[in-house]
Amino acid sequence: IPWSGPQTPVSSPIHMAGDGGSPEPVSLGHVPDLDADRALECLEAAHRAYDHGRGPWPTLPVAERLGHMEDFVHRMVARKDPVVRLIMWEICKSRKDAEKEFTRTVQYIRDTIDALKDLDRASSRFVFQEGLLAQIRRAPLGVALCMGPFNYPLNETFATLIPALLMGNTVVFKPPKHGCLLYEPLLEAFRDAFPPGVVNMVTGSGSRVIPPLMESGKVNVFAFIGTSRVANSLRQRHPKLNRLRCVLGLEAKNPAIILPDADLEVTVRECVLGGLSFNGQRCTALKIFFVHKSLAERFVRDLSDAVSSVPVGLPWEDPVITPLAEPGKPDYLASLIDDALALGARVTNDGGGSRHYSAFRPAVVYPVDARMRLFHEEQFGPVLPVVPYEDLEEPVRAVIESPYGQQLSLFGTDPERMARLIDPLVNQVCRVNLNCQCQRGPDTFPFTGRKDSAESTLSVADALRAFSIRTLVAARDD
Ligand code: G3H
Repeated sequence: IPWSGPQTPVSSPIHMAGDGGSPEPVSLGHVPDLDADRALECLEAAHRAYDHGRGPWPTLPVAERLGHMEDFVHRMVARKDPVVRLIMWEICKSRKDAEKEFTRTVQYIRDTIDALKDLDRASSRFVFQEGLLAQIRRAPLGVALCMGPFNYPLNETFATLIPALLMGNTVVFKPPKHGCLLYEPLLEAFRDAFPPGVVNMVTGSGSRVIPPLMESGKVNVFAFIGTSRVANSLRQRHPKLNRLRCVLGLEAKNPAIILPDADLEVTVRECVLGGLSFNGQRCTALKIFFVHKSLAERFVRDLSDAVSSVPVGLPWEDPVITPLAEPGKPDYLASLIDDALALGARVTNDGGGSRHYSAFRPAVVYPVDARMRLFHEEQFGPVLPVVPYEDLEEPVRAVIESPYGQQLSLFGTDPERMARLIDPLVNQVCRVNLNCQCQRGPDTFPFTGRKDSAESTLSVADALRAFSIRTLVAARDD
């Protein structure tokens, strides 16, 4: 879509002294504020380009589709600097992490191109069975609506958009509200690399543009990475979603379970990394820490010391903790801490939970228990709740009863004991990490979750499957 028409101002979470001397959010630019009609025009363009599977994109030979994608990556790489700068200013990712998001995304596209070549080779084989000669193929599903989250505005929007396109679907995508301006430098690359109507971007208020798209009956695949709350409310408001292919990456409350014989140094290092990278604003972040009572005091002391020395600053200073991207987040985190304090917990690190505009110092909260909101809610921010346990059954039960089921980290030094725990735990979540933090990568590993955490699997090869259907052409071989 053209970067024109009514526009909404975009500002950074970073505050700087304004004309009157008092700090104001830095203004970054404007994005189009689409209304329902313009959003539907985008969908119509995608629908025309797909044309019930007869359009030029879904019928293009795979090699040519790959050629368009290779051309796009080339153009994207040439725009690295402005995109990285905007990731830093719009969502306050440190320079190092913003660059990592960009290069990881480029690598993800290249890996997905290779995976499609493999898939295509496998589909060109013929099988002969019960007198039938058949070729089993992978075909596109139609028009995909893809929505990404603010914490990986480029990478996790592309995690659905790229496989959807490569499989021959046409796409309408909506970048996150915080992390939207960074698409401006990429629009030209999309426009020059793909035929008209194949990729379409909508921006503006989600509550204004998404309902008409959902109600049009012209969306065939719904891909959303974000909160379970938004996904559930979309499902309630648009029952049609229940009949569509959904590719969802949602919330998690990944626990660290720390056994009495855990190596404290390794455990604290991984818990700080896992809990605080990009301010804990990762679905994979460690969000609750169950520690055996015999180790609890030492763990809390060492964790608090480590958290107090985590660098805090602005994105270009390459710290761990930066200002929070969502304006309401500091208030929300403070309310979680207040709730825990009122029920008997305390903040154990110096300055933990103190605030300055959008900046929030990380806090360790201890002892947390099941009466507190921090035990249940996905904080998605730099607050580390520590829960002491007596019997291992307590954290295991918490995992079983959690509405989420993405990953967990298990810390201990007795290999036999760890081995005995793996099967029961991996049957509750989708990845058990031994003596290391939770994470999505490498991107070729399957990435998914149980219960409210996910629907479908995202990874290079799995995502290609998620955006396609197996079809076959069969003939009697008489
Ligand atoms: O926010 C959810 C992301 O999938 C986390 O990815 O573990 O690579 O930071 P990551």
